[in-house]
Amino acid sequence: MKNLQDIRTDYKKSKLDNNSVNSNPLEQMKLWLDNAIKSEMLEPTAFVLSTVNSDNKPSSRVLLLKGIDEQGPIFYTNYNSRKGNEIESNPNASMLFFWDVLERQIRIEGKIEKLTYEESDKYFQTRPYTSKIGAWASKQSTVLHSRFTLLRKVASLMIKYPMHVPLPEFWGGYRMIPEYFEFWQGRESRLHDRIRFTKSDSSWQIDRLSP
Ligand SMILES: Cc1cc2nc3c(=O)[nH]c(=O)nc-3n(C[C@H](O)[C@H](O)[C@H](O)COP(=O)(O)O)c2cc1C
Repeated sequence: MKNLQDIRTDYKKSKLDNNSVNSNPLEQMKLWLDNAIKSEMLEPTAFVLSTVNSDNKPSSRVLLLKGIDEQGPIFYTNYNSRKGNEIESNPNASMLFFWDVLERQIRIEGKIEKLTYEESDKYFQTRPYTSKIGAWASKQSTVLHSRFTLLRKVASLMIKYPMHVPLPEFWGGYRMIPEYFEFWQGRESRLHDRIRFTKSDSSWQIDRLSP
């Protein structure tokens, strides 16, 4: 393997300042997401969700963003998964987006709330048939004896639900209600741009942070 200390990239693609950033961080996030989607990378909507368990121990995993409404970013998962249980005991979480081709990172912190059954169902019904069956088949984050056990379950669920697949009560969406954003744009010589949004009452305070 190459000596990791010899790997260096100088970032020169773009810049960001208090005046050019959108005063609504959700709009700024949409703009950067749009740039990421147009750059044709494999998973532009992928982000790392970090949660904390009841012993204050953090855990992280990659998820896909499925929407942004006027309240915050939205994603879908199994409510009984490890992350689901952690969110249940502590709604504080962080989301991290990193787009290397754009030399950009977004950090978001806030509280997570469940979508309504109707909101989740609306999205669930847009998923491909096999993904809907997969949501039913997987007891996400529990120990599985073998892959065969899972495939057998998939087969029996396909017989049970040959056409319409209802939304499982243990599966659905979450929305992050953001209290903090940081937009990071890589710059030359490690003198990066960092623009922070902190919520004060109902408005956002915007500051530049040291790189
Ligand atoms: C690119 C990528 C996208 C993923 N998207 C999702 C997703 O949208 N929802 C989900 O539940 N898991 C998704 N996963 C799987 C999660 O990373 C994780 O394995 C799973 O949610 C179980 O996490 P947990 O045990 O911490 O609850 C994705 C993984 C990768 C690598």
